[in-house]
Order: sequence, then structure tokens, then C-alpha cells
Amino acid sequence: MTPARLGVAGAGLIGSRHADAIAIAEGVVLTAIADPAEAIGRPVADKHGVPWTASLGELIARDDVDGIVLATPNQVHVEGGLACIAAGKPVLVEKPLASDLSEARRLVETAEAAGVPLAAGHHRRHNPLMDKAKELVDEGRLGTIASVQATTWFMKPDDYFETPWRRMKGAGPVYLNLAHDIDLLHMLVGPVVSVMAMESNAVRGNEVEETAVVLLKFASGTLGTVNICDTAVTPWSWELTASENPVYPATSEDCYWLAGTHASLAIPSLSLWTNPAKRSWWEPIAATRFPYPFADPLVVQMEQFGAVVRGEAPPKVTGRDGLAALEVIEAVKTSAATGAPVHLEGRG
Ligand SMILES: NC(=O)c1ccc[n+]([C@@H]2O[C@H](COP(=O)([O-])OP(=O)(O)OC[C@H]3O[C@@H](n4cnc5c(N)ncnc54)[C@H](O)[C@@H]3O)[C@@H](O)[C@H]2O)c1
Repeated sequence: MTPARLGVAGAGLIGSRHADAIAIAEGVVLTAIADPAEAIGRPVADKHGVPWTASLGELIARDDVDGIVLATPNQVHVEGGLACIAAGKPVLVEKPLASDLSEARRLVETAEAAGVPLAAGHHRRHNPLMDKAKELVDEGRLGTIASVQATTWFMKPDDYFETPWRRMKGAGPVYLNLAHDIDLLHMLVGPVVSVMAMESNAVRGNEVEETAVVLLKFASGTLGTVNICDTAVTPWSWELTASENPVYPATSEDCYWLAGTHASLAIPSLSLWTNPAKRSWWEPIAATRFPYPFADPLVVQMEQFGAVVRGEAPPKVTGRDGLAALEVIEAVKTSAATGAPVHLEGRG
């Protein structure tokens, strides 16, 4: 297999982790780094023994770069993504696809019209535990999924908010964190068609929300609730349960629950609860835990993107998937601001 040669644009927090993931992943090789901040870009490039450039345009133009990982700030995703598409180079765009839904749609439609693959950086979908959860759902083990509950509670410490932009609108957990949870619910339950939400800043009193509760209706008829809060000491979030990122201490708790007519599934423990005899709340109920292989989803994501760049597979998480998550996030903000439900026309 000829490895896909990847360039990383934006060598900050997540871009440097992508560079590390490419170094571990099979079927991909890092060939260059672009970041206008030399103090950020050069050390990452040096660590991996590849050239650094200040310019995304130069990165895209390099003959030894077959595909681009775009880990730049949200505000420049569309401009950078369009430049990759114009050059015919497949691109993985970090989430959210754009800071604005109509711009994200323009990016996705341009990629589709040009026939250039565009992947969205919702890396959690690449976690093998989600593949196993999806398999259990698709096998029909839960019966009809009537309801889902996602809990995204954690404590962002006081010093996190010493940086002024983190106290301002747009920097709260709805924009920063919720998109990942919505994307996983889309993966398991299908598209959301209606959203109602409330937000609060009653604890810290910052301009930005710290808590949001969200009601979801899925196209399947399933109802869902998502409760997100970044000012509570709890173990119940993907971050603190999925053992995905070593910076978060892992607990053995769960964060998502899928309630079906024949069984319910707790994630990430993959505990499937059933009535062995008769389905009834008066009957004994027991859990079976399903094992899954552990793998770092950032590494798996790069291996999948390598297959995309080599033309062997479409993106596992498409631009349309990224658009769909962003559409729900914008609906949450709108519903919280107006107090009215928001109906979505369809996925992406
Ligand atoms: N998938 C995830 O879990 C995850 C986690 C963190 C961040 N993100 C997303 O990744 C993106 C980057 O976030 P971050 O926290 O790494 O930000 P960051 O500020 O740490 O890094 C961004 C870098 O991009 C560089 N940059 C700016 N303009 C550029 C350009 N035109 N070309 C190349 N580089 C440019 C900046 O100099 C900076 O070094 C955001 O969209 C964010 O939402 C995703």
C-alpha cells in the first residue's frame, strides 16, 4: 500500500495531536505542516522531521501533499476548505465545519459539485466502541428505540475562564462540546427533525451559557433529551467515561442510554439490559456487557482519511454529517433564545 501523504494546517491544540496520530497510523505519512505562527508550527514540524510553512496555499500546492487535515480556527475553515477543493485535494475539516450554517453548506456543496472528498472531524465516530454500539442497534437487539438520554456534565475549572473569550457568547459548551454528542446520536438513532432547548448561566453569571437542556425528536419518532453542563463536578460525560483522551481521568460510568422495546443499552460500558423471560417491569432484568477493541479514534480517523485520499473509500463521517450536527447546534441556540421549537428540514 502506498501511504497517503498528508499535510496538517493549523498546528495548535488539535492539529499537533493529528500530527502525532498520523505518525502512529498505518497507510498515512505526514509530509508538511502549515501555521502562520512560526512559534507554534515549527516545533511541531521539527518534532516530526517535516518542513514548516506559514502559508496554507503553499501547503496545498506541494507535490508531496495528497490530502489536507484542516485544524485551523473555525472562522477560516470555509476559506481553507475551498482552497483545498479548488486544488482537487481531499480535506478533513475539523468540527464545526464553519462558524455559520450557510457557509458550511456552501463548503459541502462545493466539494460535492467538484467531486472532491470532504470529511468532517467528528472523530468519536471512529471509536471502535461506537462501531460495536451501532452494530448492536442495527442487529435489532434493542427492538424499537423509544427514547434516548445523553448526559454531558463536567467541570471546567475557574482558571479556564480567565481567558476573556471563554466567558463570551459562542464559547459555551453548546458550541464547543455538544456537536460531538449530537453527531453520535445521529450515528445511532438517525437524523433529528425537531429541537427545543433552554439555557442557563445562573451559576457563574458569565455572558455565555454553562448549562443547556435539549429536547430532540428524531425522524424515526424516537424522542431524546440531552443535558449539558460545564460547571458541575460529575463523572457522567463522554470525556470522563470513554477513556479516549488521557488528559481526562477515566471512570467506569456511562453517559448515553438508549431505551428500546426489547432492551436498553448504556454507553460506553455497552451494557445491554434485558428481561430474560418476559418483558415487564415486574420481571428480573439483567445486563450483558459486550467487549470491544480499544483504539485511539484520532488514529483510526487518520487511517480512514488515508483510505479516502487513496480513493479506496468515501469519508466515514461526511461533510453532510458535519452539516447535520451544526444544524442541530444552531437550532439549540435559536430555540433557547426564542423559547420556540425549531423544525429542521432534513439532514444537512
Ligand atoms: N475534534 C475535536 O475534539 C477538537 C478538539 C479541539 C479543537 N477542535 C477544532 O479544531 C480547530 C482548531 O482548534 P484548536 O483548539 O486546535 O485551536 P488552536 O488555536 O490551538 O490552533 C489553531 C492553529 O491554527 C493556526 N492557523 C490560523 N489560521 C491558519 C491558516 N490560515 N492556515 C494554517 N494555520 C492557521 C493558528 O496559528 C493556530 O496555531 C477548531 O475548529 C476546533 O473547533 C476539535
